[in-house]
Amino acid sequence: MNLENKVAIITGAGGGMGKVVVEQFLTHGTKVAAIDLDLDGLNELKTQYPQQLLVIQGDLTDEQSVEDAVKKTAETFGQIDVLANVAGIAQAATDIEKVSLKDWERIMAINSTAVFLTSRATVPYMKQQKSGSIINIASVSVDRPRPGLNAYVASKGATISLTKALAIELAPYNIRVNAINPGPADTKMLGEFTASGSDEGDTKERVFRKSVPLGELITPEAIANCVLYLSSDLAKMMTGSVVNVDGGRGI
Ligand SMILES: NC(=O)c1ccc[n+]([C@@H]2O[C@H](COP(=O)([O-])OP(=O)(O)OC[C@H]3O[C@@H](n4cnc5c(N)ncnc54)[C@H](O)[C@@H]3O)[C@@H](O)[C@H]2O)c1
Repeated sequence: MNLENKVAIITGAGGGMGKVVVEQFLTHGTKVAAIDLDLDGLNELKTQYPQQLLVIQGDLTDEQSVEDAVKKTAETFGQIDVLANVAGIAQAATDIEKVSLKDWERIMAINSTAVFLTSRATVPYMKQQKSGSIINIASVSVDRPRPGLNAYVASKGATISLTKALAIELAPYNIRVNAINPGPADTKMLGEFTASGSDEGDTKERVFRKSVPLGELITPEAIANCVLYLSSDLAKMMTGSVVNVDGGRGI
């Protein structure tokens, strides 16, 4: 895939999907800036890849924190070729009349406004290079919503719309912008969609796994494979696409 001369920023890098995305890029020789609030999962990787991995603790809802992280990446590695917006938070299924404005705004801030902030900070570097690939992790729930995930689905829908808006805006600069819709994936987040009072294990098996036509939860590796592909020149004619990696859940 020729990713060894590239520099990638990965948000949500300490999470279930994010960490595997970071690992796969490192294995391909890519230099990686890994951003997360929680760095626990990344320290071991840092000792394994001291030159190739820059670990940055940052809050993606904070404008200055995002600007600083992107600047530090450019200063350290000299270029930015890939931005993968993987960070996100779940919503416990909640009837709309019980959703607080505070919860709504927090979900929007992390799942969509953060994608605006990271894109805004990164695009000037990509424009200068006349190339770049931005990959936004949305969700198949935008096409196949589940009851009670109102704010979550709306936040991911905004991210898909932003993906398409930026794809057309940035095409003249050879910057590609695509989204991935994961289906239910086997990470810590999956349990967080469970309505309060319901059994997490039961929901995972009865609701989520059974909703996937291919019969298995999506692995972080399956998502990472798609992120790497979209980052590479193999996908050089893909922009504005929304790719389902969902075992058929979106059908
Ligand atoms: N797990 C699923 O079933 C599923 C399905 C569809 C889409 N997704 C999406 O996939 C992406 C990755 O999810 P995951 O399953 O790896 O979740 P995860 O909870 O394991 O990881 C999310 C990461 O984002 C980080 N994060 C959250 N808020 C942050 C902030 N303000 N600043 C910096 N970092 C922050 C968290 O610390 C965490 O490490 C998310 O965007 C999620 O919405 C997940």
